[in-house]
Amino acid sequence: MVDPQFSESKNLLVENPLDSGGLYPDPGQLIVKDKVNLKILKKLVGQSILSVNQFDKELVLEICKLAALLEATEIAESHPLNGKIVITAFFEASTRTRLSFESAVLRLNGKIITIPDARQTGVAKGESLADIGEMFNAYGDLVVMRHTETDAVQKIMKNLRLPLINAGNGSGEHPTQALADWFAILKWKPELKKDKVKPENRIHLGILGTPGSMRAVNSFLRMSLLFKPGIRKISIISEMADPLGPELQETLEKSDLDFVITNDINVVLSDMDVIYMNSIAFLGDSYKTLDSRFKLDAGSNLKEDAVVLHPLARLDELDPALDGTHHNLYFTQAHGAVFIRQALFISVLNRFDRLPKKDVPLSN
Ligand code: CP
Repeated sequence: MVDPQFSESKNLLVENPLDSGGLYPDPGQLIVKDKVNLKILKKLVGQSILSVNQFDKELVLEICKLAALLEATEIAESHPLNGKIVITAFFEASTRTRLSFESAVLRLNGKIITIPDARQTGVAKGESLADIGEMFNAYGDLVVMRHTETDAVQKIMKNLRLPLINAGNGSGEHPTQALADWFAILKWKPELKKDKVKPENRIHLGILGTPGSMRAVNSFLRMSLLFKPGIRKISIISEMADPLGPELQETLEKSDLDFVITNDINVVLSDMDVIYMNSIAFLGDSYKTLDSRFKLDAGSNLKEDAVVLHPLARLDELDPALDGTHHNLYFTQAHGAVFIRQALFISVLNRFDRLPKKDVPLSN
C-alpha cells in the first residue's frame, strides 16, 4: 500500500505495487489539499449507475478522490460493507470487471453471490431478465450486471428494486470503466481536473475504435467531454466511415472541441499525449487483419511522455513490449478499478459512516 501521508510528489513512487513495469502515479496527488466532499457523493446513495450521462465533472472528481483515498489508505479493518450482499450477474464473459467488483466487495468485508455465466441460470431454460430481476430483490442489496444485449438494463430494471450498476451492456455503455480510465488519467496528470488548464498542459487524446458501437470507448469519450478544459484535440482512429454515429457526432460537434477522424494511427501518433487503445479485432471483418495503422509496439513513434490506456483484454493491437515502459498506464488503469468500484459501493450503499475518520478526510 501507498504511504498514507499523501505525498505531494509529482512523479512516480519508488515502490510500484504493480511490480510489472509501467507507470504507477501516486494517488496522493488527487487528495493533497482537498477533503472528499460527502455532500456531492451522497447524490449516489441508493442510485443505479447506468450511464456516463448521469455524471458531471464534480461527481467524477469526488468519486476519484474517494478512490484515491481508498488506494492510499488501509481501511479494510473498518469493514465498510459489513452485512451487505452484492450480486454480480455476468451474462457475458469478463476477466477484470467481475473480479475487480468482487475484489472490491470482499476487501470491504461485504459478501457476494455471483453468476459467472448465463448458462448457469434459468436463462438456459428461457427465463426472462425481468423475472430474474424480481428474484434478485430477495437475494441481495445491490446488483452488478454485464450483458451481451444493450437493452438488458431496461429489461432487468422492469422488476428490480435494488440499485443496479451497469458493468457493460452490449454495444451501449461501460460507465465504471470510464471512471477507472479517468481515475488513471487524473493520477497521471492531476492538473486536468482544473477548469482552467494552461495551454502547454492540455492533451491531445487519441481513441482507437468506434465509439458509436463499442461501449468502453463510448463511455470514455462521453466522460472525456467533462474534462474539456484539459483537452487540446481528440483524434478518433477508425476504419469505419462513421465511427461515432449521429448522436455522438452531434455531441462532439456541440462540444466545440477540435476533433479529427483518421484511419491510420501513425498520422497522429507523434502528437498524441494519451492513446486509448481498444481490441477492435473483436469487431467484425474489416478489422480482422490488423495492420500497423491500428497497432502500437516498441517501434511506434510515441511522444516521449505519452501514455497508453487500454480497457483490456488486448489482442495484437497492443504489443506486450510496451508493458515495461513508462508509456504503460493500462495496468494502473486496471488495478485502480478496484478502488473506483469500492468508492461506488460505499456511496451507493451509504456506508460513509464506516470509513475511519482519522485516515479518510471527509467534509459534509
Ligand atoms: N475492461 C473490461 O471490461 O474487461 P473485462 O471484459 O475482462 O471485464
